[in-house]
Amino acid sequence: MPSRAFARKVRIVPSLLAADLAHLKDQIAQVEAGGADWLHVDVMDGVFVPNLTFGAKVIETCRSLTKLPLDVHLMVVEPEKYFETFAKAGASVMTIHVETAPHLHRQLAHIKELGCAAGAAVNPGTSLDTVREVAIDLDLLLIMSVNPGFGGQAFIPESLDKIRRARALLDAVGSSAALEVDGGIGRDTANACWRAGADTFVAGNAVFSAKDAAAEVRVLRALCAESV
Ligand code: DX5
Ligand code: ZN
Repeated sequence: MPSRAFARKVRIVPSLLAADLAHLKDQIAQVEAGGADWLHVDVMDGVFVPNLTFGAKVIETCRSLTKLPLDVHLMVVEPEKYFETFAKAGASVMTIHVETAPHLHRQLAHIKELGCAAGAAVNPGTSLDTVREVAIDLDLLLIMSVNPGFGGQAFIPESLDKIRRARALLDAVGSSAALEVDGGIGRDTANACWRAGADTFVAGNAVFSAKDAAAEVRVLRALCAESV
């Protein structure tokens, strides 16, 4: 189950959870104009997390509106129920939570068989030990820097040390998986996460609450690239 080679470069990934859905097309066009690398689609089931969001229809709609890779974050129990539908709908990356994935190795393989990149996410309270055995199989490792469920929460500072340890873990096994951080990413936190070893930055409110979403994507990218 070889993992994909994602080069270590800054990827800015606006989260549509914070977008104005009445103007989804425009919102996507704006971040695309700003140079967004991927789009982040948060799928929540009201069971694993106390909120409900998007499903296949929204993924399909996004797919029809942009050529950018769709980074689908599954905050759901029994995520494998959705793999086929979401792959068909146009997901590029599917990331599942280790807390809901008792057969993580098999589930990651399943995602890859469907032609998608496979990611594993860990909650703030979850140890990196839960991904150690599959580190070599990962296309993406997602460090949650808030407890998942809602946008606009404050970045948990301890996440920085976890990002450092995650970078060391990926390097130790020679993995070129993307190291993604999600939650509370903005002007105050992006650069520290980059210096700690993250390369893929999900940003919801920071981008879509900004006056100019395109400009904000550029600002975040510039902040990350500083002082490597
Ligand atoms: C939270 C979601 C995030 C959310 C981030 O559970 O997984 O992707 O959209 O939002 P911000 O960037 O506003 O913290
Ligand atoms: Zn997310």
